[in-house]
Amino acid sequence: MKLILVVLGLASVALATQVRFDNFQVHRIIPTTESQVQALRELQENNVAYNFWSGVEGIEQPVDIMIPPHLINDFQDFLSLQQLTSEVFIDNVQDRIDNEKPKVQSRAFGWTDYYRLNDIYAWLDSIVAEFPNVVTPVVGGSSYEGRQIRGVRVSYSSANRNRTVFVEAGIHAREWITNAVSTYILNQLLRSSDSRIRAIAQYYDWYFFPSVNPDGYEYSHTTNRMWRKTRTPYGSCYGADPNRNWGYRWNTGGASTNPCSDTFAGPNPFSERSTSTLSQFFTGISSQTVAYISFHSYSQLLLIPYGHTTQNLDNYAELKQVGDRAAAALASRFGTRYTVGNIAATIYVATGGSMDWAKGTYGTRITYTYELRDQGRYGFVLPADQIIPTGQETLDSFVVIFEEFLGKL
Ligand SMILES: *[C@@H]1O[C@H](CO)[C@@H](O)[C@H](O)[C@H]1NC(C)=O
Ligand SMILES: [Zn+2]
Repeated sequence: MKLILVVLGLASVALATQVRFDNFQVHRIIPTTESQVQALRELQENNVAYNFWSGVEGIEQPVDIMIPPHLINDFQDFLSLQQLTSEVFIDNVQDRIDNEKPKVQSRAFGWTDYYRLNDIYAWLDSIVAEFPNVVTPVVGGSSYEGRQIRGVRVSYSSANRNRTVFVEAGIHAREWITNAVSTYILNQLLRSSDSRIRAIAQYYDWYFFPSVNPDGYEYSHTTNRMWRKTRTPYGSCYGADPNRNWGYRWNTGGASTNPCSDTFAGPNPFSERSTSTLSQFFTGISSQTVAYISFHSYSQLLLIPYGHTTQNLDNYAELKQVGDRAAAALASRFGTRYTVGNIAATIYVATGGSMDWAKGTYGTRITYTYELRDQGRYGFVLPADQIIPTGQETLDSFVVIFEEFLGKL
């Protein structure tokens, strides 16, 4: 009896503890043969102890893998067996995590630090109070653990109703820069005096949802900085990938059926409460919505539907042309280079994503997925002092995209 109590006690201590990543390394590997690509795919699917920070795209496409210290030797054996070499991009992930946030944390909400869910939601309340005629609180859905998916609607005129823009961030929990950039842009739409920003702010109705995977986001703060999925229990593992779970060409490639995998599609489309409720919310406004914007990190890409085919479908040509100009505007501020293109062609086949569902189901015209900074030096652990520059350059591209349709919708 005593022993059982001791064991239970240890388990609860373990639950409350932050997972540490001391001496975890991130290696970049560039496969050059199809058999190397296959070996990497098998490693990803069969050994979840290797945490893939990127997908396995194909020949010449870099793959970033986080390796725990006890597997470094095994990993070196794998590399030599496959005649692969790697470059160490991060030699101690914990060191990056320890330096991600500023040494002195400010209590007020802003863009020099990363914030917990309740701080983000309290800030949404504050802009509702400050701009009562423009900002309305909205609830886009709820999560498995019972959190709300909160957002706001920004509307300067009832005439803008049929020009609604839907913006979601944080569907992958560990991509903290996305939540921060979404509130940065929202804040600028309300406060900037720049005439170009004012023009787009006042022409569209905007819905912003800064944290659409709230359970995962909180878990990435309290327990495991590298958490990606939802927190729904599936046997001995937790969570489905909420960006492989939407009901358009669900689980037809680039997703896993293994509940322990980081790209687990879920047992069926919209199995996750967060994706099913948010999709119902979107359905309700779909006829008035002209744009669906989704924020991810990292890689510096501006992606266009679809993830199931490399074919350029629907209005790909229009989106590519506008996207190229948006990427040029983004680069002009700090030189940050983005690649623009179809998901399956630019990164890899991936199905069940939110943007593809909006495009494929409702034909939403303006659809982009951002993969924000960086290109792997910090990966998901982008230092907080990069939030403002990332927000500024991303807003530059936003202005180009939404200026394009001014007066035309
Ligand atoms: C939006 O479109 C609907 C359907 O076409 C129309 O009935 C409604 O009047 C439009 N609303 C505005 C504000 O333009
Ligand atoms: Zn992502």
